[in-house]
Amino acid sequence: MSEPERPGFVPVGLRDNFYQTSAFIPMSFALVTTVHEDGTTGIGPHALCFPFGITSPHSMLLISRATSGTAHNIRRTGKCALNYLEFDRDQLTAIARLGLPGQSLDDKQRAMPFGLVPSPDGGRAAQPGCPKVIAEAFQVMECTWDRSYDLDRPPAGAAEVGANHFVLQVDRQWLREPFAAALEDGGPFPRMPIFFGFRNPGDFWFAGHAEPFSVPLPKVEGLEAQGIFYLANRLDPAVSFTREACELLSGVPKPFVKNALQGIVAAAKSAGVAEVGADFMRAVRERSRV
Ligand SMILES: Cc1cc2nc3c(=O)[nH]c(=O)nc-3n(C[C@H](O)[C@H](O)[C@H](O)COP(=O)(O)O)c2cc1C
Repeated sequence: MSEPERPGFVPVGLRDNFYQTSAFIPMSFALVTTVHEDGTTGIGPHALCFPFGITSPHSMLLISRATSGTAHNIRRTGKCALNYLEFDRDQLTAIARLGLPGQSLDDKQRAMPFGLVPSPDGGRAAQPGCPKVIAEAFQVMECTWDRSYDLDRPPAGAAEVGANHFVLQVDRQWLREPFAAALEDGGPFPRMPIFFGFRNPGDFWFAGHAEPFSVPLPKVEGLEAQGIFYLANRLDPAVSFTREACELLSGVPKPFVKNALQGIVAAAKSAGVAEVGADFMRAVRERSRV
């Protein structure tokens, strides 16, 4: 039997760096700061930088050409900072120059439109090997390379690996306002530059984005309790909630849920309870009704 026709699709050969030579994958990017051998802080733009360990230990995966300054410095010091900027078209020319492989450190220094400041964490700023961070960044993750992963062993039959895959544990995470508050309140969002890669006819390609919007979720049984579970377990690292406990709050009107949870966190802490289960939740709610 012949293959069914799929009108409109054209097969595309996979070339190296396929995500930018054979496909369209819009990405955010970080300006990765690391410490050079002479003690100065260098900057390497990197788009292949994604959340990796999404529960504790929290980490990012960074893929960097093995010969980049960034990769050399992380292999030597084990430290880096991921700095994220808001969209500014004028800065993109400088970022493209910082991102051209083979530039000397002096060339890069001349291309540098950013201010470098010590880590906001004084203890870290004093540690050798910990880079400065970018003053203009709205978001910074300070990281340590987790050497226990070995992602650079070439798979059977593959050519030598030309890139390092660093699992970076996020030690400290910093945000500027209003974005720290926006994590809880749902906005405003930072306007971030989008990177489309190095592609024909031989340039780095970027885009801006429109205002983010939310999509209303369908009413699905259990979804409300799931939302409460998510919120409850973000309030205080010392107090966690079980799903059963959260289900008991399903009937509480949405605007009051956070307040109710905060009251239960306070009650749990004063009772020395680290995990709020259904029984504790019932007892606290019973008491507060009296
Ligand atoms: C926006 C942008 C994203 C980039 N992403 C990556 C990446 O994810 N991995 C990589 O190896 N190179 C990437 N590059 C190229 C590096 O920035 C380039 O190799 C640069 O020389 C690294 O600087 P360094 O040698 O100081 O580390 C990117 C370049 C730009 C402009």
